Amino acid sequence: MDARKRVKGPQVRLGVIGVGGMGAGHCSTMHKVPEVRLTAVCDISESTAKTIGKKYSVPCFTSHQELIRSKLCDAVLIATPHPVRPDIAIDAMNARLHVLSEKPLSERVLTADKMVKTAGRKGVALAVMFQRRMEPPFAKAIELVKSGAIGTVWRTTMISPEYRTQAYYDSGNWRATWSGEGGGVMMNQSPHVLDLFVQLGGMPSEVTGRCETRLHKIEVEDVAEAMLRYPGGGTGYFYCSTNELGPGQMIEIFGTHGKLCYRDKQLKYYRFSESVPEFTFNTKAVWSSPECKEEMLDIPATEWGHYSIIQNFCRHLLHGDRLVSPGEEGLQSLELANAVWLSAHLGKPVKLPLNRRAYEKFLAGKRAESTFVKAAAPDQRVTDPSHIAPPQ
Ligand SMILES: NC(=O)c1ccc[n+]([C@@H]2O[C@H](COP(=O)([O-])OP(=O)(O)OC[C@H]3O[C@@H](n4cnc5c(N)ncnc54)[C@H](O)[C@@H]3O)[C@@H](O)[C@H]2O)c1
Repeated sequence: MDARKRVKGPQVRLGVIGVGGMGAGHCSTMHKVPEVRLTAVCDISESTAKTIGKKYSVPCFTSHQELIRSKLCDAVLIATPHPVRPDIAIDAMNARLHVLSEKPLSERVLTADKMVKTAGRKGVALAVMFQRRMEPPFAKAIELVKSGAIGTVWRTTMISPEYRTQAYYDSGNWRATWSGEGGGVMMNQSPHVLDLFVQLGGMPSEVTGRCETRLHKIEVEDVAEAMLRYPGGGTGYFYCSTNELGPGQMIEIFGTHGKLCYRDKQLKYYRFSESVPEFTFNTKAVWSSPECKEEMLDIPATEWGHYSIIQNFCRHLLHGDRLVSPGEEGLQSLELANAVWLSAHLGKPVKLPLNRRAYEKFLAGKRAESTFVKAAAPDQRVTDPSHIAPPQ
């Protein structure tokens, strides 16, 4: 077998672990991917596992170890709550199964590090479900940044309104608790935008964070914001919240050679006629600036969604395609989110790379001190309607 091909055969045999809202959505999406075959499902809720197993006529399990031992799968997609993901992923990788993890890899970067290291040690693939990387404007923005079109980043801004109801938070016992989720908006609703933000702006070197629970009856943050400093001297700001709705999702990246402006699905790119530092000192004109011209972008209207990441993962295993969202890149936005909370807690800026031990201590403290009692409501596993693929 070609060394780049990790799985033999026309299709990857995929098991889904955690078939609640999102996991069930993934099972329904797979019919769009010719390179995959759903071969088993697992959920600790027996009735959930049975319902989904029956719906897709595949064996169901209530323990991930049983699914792994069944040898029915080449790879697993893990869509459990994030804090239980690392142990499941590591068990799967130790059994030489490839892993596609839902986002975020984990609730804390230390255990996500372990996932990435295990994948390397065992020679298996690890990818993260960051499907928005394939959304046409973002795929184009990432391409532009990688080509050097922006130059050195001097300023970044991100705004991420991610409105959720109280009923959403009450729908799962694990949601929005320190023990069950390990964080709020930065951990569950904004990871996609945070991921795109770091793909485009790079990782900061220093973070000053502020977190608040302003509206919802939850114990973790429904608002988070941070001031950032970058290794090249640039600065940035981001804000995310599950209280804010309406338009305004935006990312802006200003660099020495150009500017990217994404707002509400529209991407604009401005190229400078000369780099800002060169122009500033070369010109003799008193009132002048480099020409800042909007460049029309050719953004092909490709389809994207969860299925596109599943397909890329399978094509990586079958044909050696480059992974769109490899596990090691999934560490970045998680590390940033952890840093924001640690800084908010300490009341001072924190440096990156994040001191993992300090974050572990902070999170363990939050979990130990928690006195929050969740509203008594039945657990519901409801797939976000926007994540359900129409039938073929
Ligand atoms: N990529 C995306 O667009 C996207 C969208 C929604 C959710 N998610 C992610 O998917 C994950 C799940 O979210 P959800 O909304 O589906 O939650 P959910 O509560 O609806 O489903 C989680 C399921 O995991 C099961 N589970 C818990 N522990 C388990 C274990 N040890 N083994 C097997 N099954 C276990 C639960 O019983 C439940 O059925 C979260 O990490 C979330 O961030 C990603």
